[in-house]
Amino acid sequence: MDFKNLISHCKEYGFIYQSSEIYDGLSAVYDYGPYGSELKNNIKQYWWKSMVQMHENIVGIDAAIFMHPKTWKASGHVDAFNDPLVDNKDSKKRYRADQLIEEYAEKIEAKIQKEVEKAKEKFGDSFDEAMYRQTNPRCLERQAEIDKVLGDLAEAMKTSDMAGLGQLIADLNITDPESGSKNWTEVRQFNLMFNTQLGNIAGEEGKLYLRPETAQGIFVNFLNVQKSTRQKIPFGIAQIGKAFRNEIVARQFIFRMREFEQMEMQFFIRPGEEMKWYEYWKETRLKWHLALGTPAEKLRFHDHDNLAHYANAAVDIQFDFPFGFRELEGIHSRTDFDLSQHQALSGKKLQYFDPELNENYVPFVVETSIGCDRMFLAMMSQALKQETVPDADGKESTRDVLKLHPCLAPVKVAVLPLLKNKEELTKAAGEVFNKLKTKFLCQYDEKDAIGRRYRRQDAIGTPYCVTIDFETLENNTVTLRDRDTLEQIRIGIDEIAGIVGEKIDFSNIL
Ligand code: GAP
Repeated sequence: MDFKNLISHCKEYGFIYQSSEIYDGLSAVYDYGPYGSELKNNIKQYWWKSMVQMHENIVGIDAAIFMHPKTWKASGHVDAFNDPLVDNKDSKKRYRADQLIEEYAEKIEAKIQKEVEKAKEKFGDSFDEAMYRQTNPRCLERQAEIDKVLGDLAEAMKTSDMAGLGQLIADLNITDPESGSKNWTEVRQFNLMFNTQLGNIAGEEGKLYLRPETAQGIFVNFLNVQKSTRQKIPFGIAQIGKAFRNEIVARQFIFRMREFEQMEMQFFIRPGEEMKWYEYWKETRLKWHLALGTPAEKLRFHDHDNLAHYANAAVDIQFDFPFGFRELEGIHSRTDFDLSQHQALSGKKLQYFDPELNENYVPFVVETSIGCDRMFLAMMSQALKQETVPDADGKESTRDVLKLHPCLAPVKVAVLPLLKNKEELTKAAGEVFNKLKTKFLCQYDEKDAIGRRYRRQDAIGTPYCVTIDFETLENNTVTLRDRDTLEQIRIGIDEIAGIVGEKIDFSNIL
């Protein structure tokens, strides 16, 4: 299903609404509706269980959003958490200079891809894409141009050369995607942190930041947690919480938001062991995604071209979103950067005594960091399908179905009396509903024809529908309809909880 339809499905079925919609909305801020908040909670549960419950050496915390302002000086965010901003003087639109240049490179890549597709058609089964890309002169020429552009971009970003970025935009003749104008302002740094003021303290002294990552709440608590839980290195601290970034360009729905939620885990290790743990967490996190049934071809690793100020190695797990492969999760080797910086600025030792080595050191850190909202978007975009299915009367009709993994589905079972105006059926259905609702989120629905009720449940991803009919009154059996196969089986009322419970049990994927 295309991206536009996905967005309207999210609104129509109560997954996501634009924030403050009645006031025309607030850009890049969204509210989760009844089914959206269930799905988001289930994603968080899956992550928390796999990190905290399944690892004896990972514990969770819930740190405050506000932190002492020195935190952000120490972490480098005050000085270095910037994006290069450029305005178009004619359209008055604002852009990220690095993204304009990346998009330029993507356009060249699209030309190569077109060339490859043409050749594929021409040569058929014998076509060797890798060989073609390595030998075809036009592909080689274009690839060289991409490498040069991205190389220049990486260099300018590394040295914070704003004039260099401006020059690159001019040299490449990059135009405003909206207006086609080349009338650009100079490129300047833009800090992404939101700030507010503490109590009645004016000026810099009282400046508070809304955290742009949850990680720092973990770093500053590193020793508190280690001492109070008696963890030995290697060990991890996990956290789920809100983060805020004043993104320059925030398009693509919940992909890039100004208020979002992160699920982060900092793994504290011996210095020198970072590459071993970096590889371990790359593999472990990829498995976490695959266990949900995400096809392998929808996920890929992408090494960072520009390392963040704290990292010595970094990779993204990218997902094939409706607008192409983009970052879903980051795995970063952060060295001892953060703990050393906090140690220096606070004057408090943040060291660990390693009893096996008989020495004190500042641990190194490998972090895994995934945006909960991006995971939500990935799951929605992969699950939402439009299908042609047989109707009750033997004809065909189309349905929108959300094929979410049952563990993530917002509602687990819908209980449906076959007819609304037969009291004996609605009464029996009410009893089944009351029995099941103590175990998992269920929905009772008696409005409209049964076919329409099935469609409503398909659209919100309910894995099972239980129908109460006249046979139920005779022998305490119901039909259980499977969302994906549409198969209906007859089972006893007492069997429903066991069958559904087995299917939605997180232990199937942990
Ligand atoms: N602590 C490391 C860190 O914050 P990051 O790559 O900047 O690293 C981690 O962010 C993850 O947070 C990303 O992979 C993405 O899933 C999510 N994320 C970052 N910025 C976001 C935004 N503006 N909107 C939604 N999710 C975002």
